[in-house]
Amino acid sequence: MKGLLTAGGHGTRLRPITHTKNKHLIPIANRPMLTYAIGYMADAGIKEIGIIVNAGDDEIEKSFDSGKELGVKLTYIPQGAPLGLAHVVKIAEPFIGDDKFLFYLGDNILVGGVMKFVDEFEASGSNCHLVLSKVSDPERFGVPEISGDRIISVEEKPSNPKSDFAVTGIYLYDSSIFEAVNSIKPSARGELEISDAHQYLLDSGKSVSFSEITGWWKDTGKPSDLLEANRLVLDNLRGKNSAKVDNKSSVTGRIVAGKGTTIKNSKVRGPVILGENVHVENAYIGPYTSISNDCNIIGCEVEYSIIMSGSSLKNVERRIEASLMGHDVELSQSNTRPRAHRIMVGDQGRVEVA
Ligand code: TTP
Repeated sequence: MKGLLTAGGHGTRLRPITHTKNKHLIPIANRPMLTYAIGYMADAGIKEIGIIVNAGDDEIEKSFDSGKELGVKLTYIPQGAPLGLAHVVKIAEPFIGDDKFLFYLGDNILVGGVMKFVDEFEASGSNCHLVLSKVSDPERFGVPEISGDRIISVEEKPSNPKSDFAVTGIYLYDSSIFEAVNSIKPSARGELEISDAHQYLLDSGKSVSFSEITGWWKDTGKPSDLLEANRLVLDNLRGKNSAKVDNKSSVTGRIVAGKGTTIKNSKVRGPVILGENVHVENAYIGPYTSISNDCNIIGCEVEYSIIMSGSSLKNVERRIEASLMGHDVELSQSNTRPRAHRIMVGDQGRVEVA
């Protein structure tokens, strides 16, 4: 079985971060988001993986190279424009050939990996296997209608959902999906929709089975989703605390920290991950915070946040929480008169002051 992973798309909901960074490289617990999907595939024995990237974007390839370090073989497949998930499958046909494959949207994070779904697809003997999750708002998703162990219809964002399941971003196919993606027409929004391809399979008599995700699953489209994904991953945090902690500091709960990191006169309450060469002084770092390499957190309180490398937070009076900061961000207390908020943020930046 091969793997097909998405790392293209627009990423509009995560601007301004995605103006300068592919969303699939945003760190979750200090590791690029895509690392999780690649790891799940490798664990399920899927070693040949095609990654869809926006044409001209070499950021993903620079990060993962041949995939050797993660124990897989990666092939990069450029997509001229984000023309839909069924378009992604269509352009991957030469890479997939006649193999069965797992199609995984690279911005989905889940607990427990994908091995169970691969096994259930193999056991089902079906042409297509969709991974479902129970949600409170199915009208925002592709929604299946279920009869016994088979799906009998799929509707995209229905106003009257036929079940309370969402089709997640994990799909398994045999090669009959290629006839479907080559036959459907673009939707009103101009994309080749994956739900239309699934409905095409059903209309042409193919069988569509399913698995249910009972654990945690998140499609990380919005900033709040990233913070939640970060929380989830930190809840299962394992690793070493290599920080140098002075005797005026208290460190409780699960803390992972890289080499060169120092904690002085501070309180750190896990789960928290600190990268390498992070300097924490006169500060409080609260649960579910991920701080990447080379950051300085001085005289501040930070909780439930993701801070990317090279950033510096100094002497900010109010606690910083539920925040997502890019690389080399500087946040400091104003100490010249008149005291004022002096802000320089890029297009579509979002700042909430208190
Ligand atoms: P979406 O979350 O549907 O879209 P997006 O990433 O463009 O984000 P936004 O809605 O905020 O603009 O995409 C799901 C996944 O599929 C994600 O990994 C991006 C990827 N994708 C492609 O690689 N090619 C495509 O044509 C589309 C539509 C998505």
